Amino acid sequence: MSSRNPIGVFDSGVGGISTLATLTKQFPDEQFIFYGDTKYAPYGSKSAEEVYQCAKRVVEELLTHHIKALVIACNTATSAAKTRLMADYPDLPIVGIEPALKEAIDAGHHDILVMGTKLTVHLPKFQSMVEKYQNTHRIYGVACPGLADYIEGGMTDNKALMTLLHQLLADYLDRPVDGIVLGCTHYPFVKAQIQSLFPKGTPVYTGYLGVAHQLQRVLNAHDLLTDETGGQTIEWLSSQPGSLDYYQTLYNRLQ
Ligand code: SIN
Repeated sequence: MSSRNPIGVFDSGVGGISTLATLTKQFPDEQFIFYGDTKYAPYGSKSAEEVYQCAKRVVEELLTHHIKALVIACNTATSAAKTRLMADYPDLPIVGIEPALKEAIDAGHHDILVMGTKLTVHLPKFQSMVEKYQNTHRIYGVACPGLADYIEGGMTDNKALMTLLHQLLADYLDRPVDGIVLGCTHYPFVKAQIQSLFPKGTPVYTGYLGVAHQLQRVLNAHDLLTDETGGQTIEWLSSQPGSLDYYQTLYNRLQ
């Protein structure tokens, strides 16, 4: 595998575009291919087996584009499928995104709200992450069914979204939450709306920088950092015909 080959980044849909925007800034000389599995979104209401099958199909497609590494820019797919994909493709460096709980704890927060899809929050990986800090911190893991669907559908700025957020977070709005972790890559698109429900200035953590550091480490370890300079390209792919303009619009909004 050549260091000049592209890095594949995938998500169930548009969420991974927010991760991609961080990676393209951090790795300005790398080439990227983004795959949104919009036809099969959302992943968060599927079983772990279904998510693994979706992820495997996407990886097979990305491999035909000769990716040198894979970033799973989807918390649900990372939780449900990363370990199995690493076993299936031992020669492919794979990086996933995890809820940035440790980052929030290291920043000194004590009462932390962690939002994720139903599947992410119910998988043992999430439960054991929470258990690790349970004796010293108050961690509220909140499953947010329906939220990724809203964002995938582009409904990020309407009254119905605020109603849904109020419903999902009702039990936590009068608690002393001092940090919010967005454990789904779709949610940063409604970060301001989520933040508006909590005391002004409550910080939000996304996990992007963790992914960027991990990618740097993995590419280094495999001697796969590009030696080219200048001229980044992004190729856009989707399981849903007609989605690519929307992906690019969202990406441009994040520049
Ligand atoms: C979803 O497809 O349900 C959301 C993906 C994620 O967890 O990032």
